Amino acid sequence: MGEALAMGLLEAGWEHADIDLAARRVERAKRVAADTSCRCVLDPAEILAGKQVVVVAVKPRDIHHLLEQIHSSVGDGQVFLSLAAGVPTTVFEKVLGEIPVVRAMPNTPAIVREGITGMAAGAHTTPDHLDLAERVLSAVGPVTRLDEHLLDAVTAVSGTGPAYAFLLAEALTEAAIREGLPRDVAEMLVHQTIKGAGHLLVDTGRSPFELRSEVTSPGGTTAAAMHILEERGFRALVEDAVRAAAQRSRELGGFAVAAEEDS
Ligand SMILES: NC(=O)c1ccc[n+]([C@@H]2O[C@H](COP(=O)([O-])OP(=O)(O)OC[C@H]3O[C@@H](n4cnc5c(N)ncnc54)[C@H](OP(=O)(O)O)[C@@H]3O)[C@@H](O)[C@H]2O)c1
Repeated sequence: MGEALAMGLLEAGWEHADIDLAARRVERAKRVAADTSCRCVLDPAEILAGKQVVVVAVKPRDIHHLLEQIHSSVGDGQVFLSLAAGVPTTVFEKVLGEIPVVRAMPNTPAIVREGITGMAAGAHTTPDHLDLAERVLSAVGPVTRLDEHLLDAVTAVSGTGPAYAFLLAEALTEAAIREGLPRDVAEMLVHQTIKGAGHLLVDTGRSPFELRSEVTSPGGTTAAAMHILEERGFRALVEDAVRAAAQRSRELGGFAVAAEEDS
């Protein structure tokens, strides 16, 4: 995710010299440096000096080790922008002190600059800090501001969301093949249908209900398909899946807080 953001910033016109990156393993650092043409170091403390924004894009379980590595190198006024799923801003504030922290949840379409990010302010974050974070994040797609307690829901909806679409794509492709379509044709039909439906939703601003009603004639083929999905509990299933993802995000945040308290 960190690399996707760096690529988005470069595409948006940032200079290579403005972006320094860090990885943990030598081979990853070499690959990231080759892919981005930015400097990529192994010690994140080395690249903090002079940076306005510090993006933290490590797995939640690696946050504490990272904060220990960098805490003595943090400069005045630096804004921390955390992408770590479920990790509360308080985890950063406890280790680093009264610093501005923005917690954000992008999603993987960021890789093709079609992401969506929900972001929230920490206790010492001003609107200017949020503007700065938004300038960075908007390199990979639109950004929406929320209260921090809603970020677990964002994680469950749009953070996890691409996986829902991919699972639908897999199921639809398999069903298409069972109906006799060759795999390559099935994949082309499904991929372009999901992309086109997404564009239709976003570009027209019309509701999914309206768009669905338009393709559902009484007694027609779509009505037959929708009837099966409704009857077999499609909506309830989606709701349960989102609830499970939000709960998992809260648990991950709880582990991060507990690990911080233990350290
Ligand atoms: N993937 C998503 O859909 C998504 C969406 C939104 C948010 N996020 C969040 O973004 C974060 C990163 O996810 P990801 O999928 O991009 O993970 P990832 O591919 O494992 O990337 C994490 C990177 O952090 C580096 N790293 C870890 N500890 C480090 C340290 N102490 N010093 C320097 N570099 C360090 C790793 O280096 P090595 O590879 O060398 O170990 C790796 O390059 C997670 O917290 C995740 O919750 C992910």
